[in-house]
Amino acid sequence: MKLACVVGTRPQLIKAAAAWHALRRDHAPRLIDTGQHYDEEIAGRFFRELHLPPPDRQLGVGSGSHARQLAAMIDGLEPVLLDEQPDAVVVFGDTNSTLAGALVAAELDLPLAHVEAGLRSFDRRMPEEINRVVADHLAQLLLAPNEQAAANLRAEGVGAGNAASGPAAEGWRRARVGVVGDLMQDLCAATLPHVRDHSAIGEGAPEDVRDLGLASGEYLFATVHRAENRAPDAIHEWLALLGALDRSVVLALHPGTRRAMDECDCVIPPNVHAVPPQGYATTLALQLHAAAVVTDSGGVQRESAWLGTPALVLRGSTEWTATLEEHGGRSALVGRDATLAVAALERLAPRAATPGSAIRRAAEAVVSPAGADDRVSASIAAWLGA
Ligand code: UD1
Ligand code: UDP
Repeated sequence: MKLACVVGTRPQLIKAAAAWHALRRDHAPRLIDTGQHYDEEIAGRFFRELHLPPPDRQLGVGSGSHARQLAAMIDGLEPVLLDEQPDAVVVFGDTNSTLAGALVAAELDLPLAHVEAGLRSFDRRMPEEINRVVADHLAQLLLAPNEQAAANLRAEGVGAGNAASGPAAEGWRRARVGVVGDLMQDLCAATLPHVRDHSAIGEGAPEDVRDLGLASGEYLFATVHRAENRAPDAIHEWLALLGALDRSVVLALHPGTRRAMDECDCVIPPNVHAVPPQGYATTLALQLHAAAVVTDSGGVQRESAWLGTPALVLRGSTEWTATLEEHGGRSALVGRDATLAVAALERLAPRAATPGSAIRRAAEAVVSPAGADDRVSASIAAWLGA
């Protein structure tokens, strides 16, 4: 089947890369890149590192207000999908590229599959929540990463016989929900053996990380990029939080966050070492060997849970509640509250127990493949054959 896989951002390149081998084995996938992310350090490098082929179509929309960015994506996608005439459109996750792919597929009456369907933070102030709700209600094939996401869809009436496709819908139009596991877990499992050795954050790491002279368990790894954490007040708050943790923090800065920090008069605390965004394997290595992770990223929340690294989540809610539960209490939602964060860090990664616990964890971590790649591909084949 000819599949138009719409991507645009770092996590979507990573998810598409995780699925690509299975999709290419079973189908004829085409990679349509909206160009939402365009900088080498958060886009280009992942094609090479994760062996994703260059995009078949590059829309080059770039940045802008959400409305302008979305409009440019829709404008660019429509002629491309009309020209490609795919058997189905596949969208991943919850970004503006996901929403644009879903809207244009629906408008052109093309079969639509949503990978990572059903996640809910129940916070509609987040653009991602709007994007995933709309994509879920437009898609006919809803591939949920876990049972909880599937239950969220059922609670909204999405699935066989739902209001959107109509109780009498047949073939691909009949909405169906499948639990397929998490593509990012597959990639994490495959990459873990390559970063287990401490050299992945030392002599084997890119220069900007190698130069920090990191030792296992003696630093925290942080990423921050949510829109809510880019407001000037929020930046001051989470920087103060990182300062209050009073341990060495490696902060891999998304270029959008760096820009927002440059625009506000912020002072980076002396224990915080800002580095550019890193490649996939180095980011996994930095999580594995850290005493704890501090993040607002959906992907990093899950990866740290799979690796067993304690996590402080810089948000008030999360759509990855199932991951938090699986993490057995080693993740804490702390928002931007420094007092909560300091207490959670001492509870989850007590200074006295590190680096010993981190060294043991890195040596013993086991991540099982989820098999999501094969299940995504097989579910699409079954759906389109129906
Ligand atoms: C987007 C997604 C978010 C996802 C994240 C992954 C939406 C609404 N948000 O957030 O869900 O978690 O990607 O990283 O789709 N910028 C650059 N270089 C780039 C791209 C962006 O400097 O290559 C800067 C620009 O200043 C831009 C800002 O980052 O205005 C925000 O970019 P945008 O694509 O709007 O959203 P992200 O914050 O990256
Ligand atoms: N990531 C990366 N380099 C970084 C920060 C994150 O490769 O400097 C990876 C991370 O390991 C995970 C994915 O990017 O696999 C998560 O993407 P991101 O945080 O941009 O978006 P989200 O998951 O929040 O949508």
